[in-house]
Amino acid sequence: RSSQTIELKRAPALAALEHVTPGMRLGLGTGSTAKLFVDALGEKVKAGLDVVCVPTSLATEQQARALGIPLTTLDDTPALDLTVDGADEIDPALRLVKGGGGALLREKIVAGASARMIVIADESKRVDVLGRFPLPIEVVRFGAAATALRIERAAEHFGMEGPVRMRMRQTGDGPLLTDGGNLVYDGQFGEIPDPDAFGEALNAIPGVVEHGLFLGMANLALIGTPGGVEEMTR
Ligand code: A5P
Repeated sequence: RSSQTIELKRAPALAALEHVTPGMRLGLGTGSTAKLFVDALGEKVKAGLDVVCVPTSLATEQQARALGIPLTTLDDTPALDLTVDGADEIDPALRLVKGGGGALLREKIVAGASARMIVIADESKRVDVLGRFPLPIEVVRFGAAATALRIERAAEHFGMEGPVRMRMRQTGDGPLLTDGGNLVYDGQFGEIPDPDAFGEALNAIPGVVEHGLFLGMANLALIGTPGGVEEMTR
């Protein structure tokens, strides 16, 4: 079963590679699906493909570096052509929940700096309404409990309840810190009826650095299904 699952991720990763052309400036996503894309990109680079890439996490940076993929930064290359990244949820309007891997801030900055964003995922990520997956929200450490309370109040305003929990390290020793040194809270809101308005409400709370709602960013989703790769556009 797990080899089947990985093929449902690999097929869209390979399909995304067809959108990469020589000379492109690329954003590289984070997570197990993006990792398969970076592996395949590494092969192309070894075969002579000329691209420069900005990674969205330290993990992706290490992977790309090991594969010999030329890297740059948004400071040296502030405008990118294309970002390819995974997602935790995708709705029919190509709105996304991201951040399950804790890299949402860099992912959003890199996607925002890109002319296009292609999302790659297996079909389990497709939902009718966002919110089954807990919404990751990156929060500054100072005053975090107060910020979390305001997040809960904002959710209530939209008819959503559910705990907002600080994400802990998997090793069990304290809170998870992001690449940017912040905390991640996961909001178990259930269905998010109005992601656009809720996203704006979250952005208005001091202490919220970013949230995992990626709205109006993805141009194309490539979805791995047992019948082949399906394309979603908006
Ligand atoms: C990382 O912060 C996330 O946004 C990932 O893109 C997301 O968790 C998808 O990861 P998988 O491809 O491993 O499901």
